[in-house]
Amino acid sequence: MRKAIVAGNWKMHKTASEAVELVSELKPLLTGVEVETAICPPATSLQAVHAALAGSAIGLGVQNMHWEGEGAFTGELSAGMILAAGCSYVILGHSERRQYFGETDEWVNRKLISALEAGLRPIVCVGETLAEREAGRIEEVVLGQIGGALMGLEADSVTDVVWAYEPVWAIGTGVTATAAQAEEAHAMMRSFLAEQLGAEVAAGQRIQYGGSVKPDNAAELFSQDNIDGGLIGGAALAAESFAAIVKAAL
Ligand code: 13P
Repeated sequence: MRKAIVAGNWKMHKTASEAVELVSELKPLLTGVEVETAICPPATSLQAVHAALAGSAIGLGVQNMHWEGEGAFTGELSAGMILAAGCSYVILGHSERRQYFGETDEWVNRKLISALEAGLRPIVCVGETLAEREAGRIEEVVLGQIGGALMGLEADSVTDVVWAYEPVWAIGTGVTATAAQAEEAHAMMRSFLAEQLGAEVAAGQRIQYGGSVKPDNAAELFSQDNIDGGLIGGAALAAESFAAIVKAAL
């Protein structure tokens, strides 16, 4: 049985003090809730949030990383730095990074290799744009992104990878994929993963859904056979709504 995982991608929101305030509201709401949960605040808040999370089962993650261990890469963070800041998770290949910062499948692949070598748990995002969906290219785009991310990796090294299916047209738009649309994409992803990695590894990998998940649609999405929790943007910025979404994965 796969365990659901719900992660909050805070994107470029919250100063360190605002982040600590949100964590202090969230902690009591999630005490004793047995769903794997993580929050990914901006890097400027990591230290403060790590301290604020003491005694909580909520995990900490970042929204991006560089594949090199160190060097002249202005503005970047390495896997080692992220680990040392108390993180266990890293979001890779988010569509906003692909769209606005030129992130390619090859970069996602290098980052994935580096994250796995460091012992971080990667959450690898894939998803099609509206134009790609309307052109009937979902399979080509989504499976291409997965295949690109996995290039050169052996099945036994990627068992802990979490995938996030985030259709770009559903992100921040209020338009959620229907549970049936999401399940169809997740099932397609899992059968491709089975071809690439073998049935056993594919059956164990978690696939989150992301894109306008809210407290009122989370339970239906998470109840689908191939949907193993969610990657939450806007609704992760308020304690009540994020906690309600986490509980919907119980
Ligand atoms: P929203 O939940 O705001 O649509 O964002 C989803 C997302 O991009 C999470 O990574």
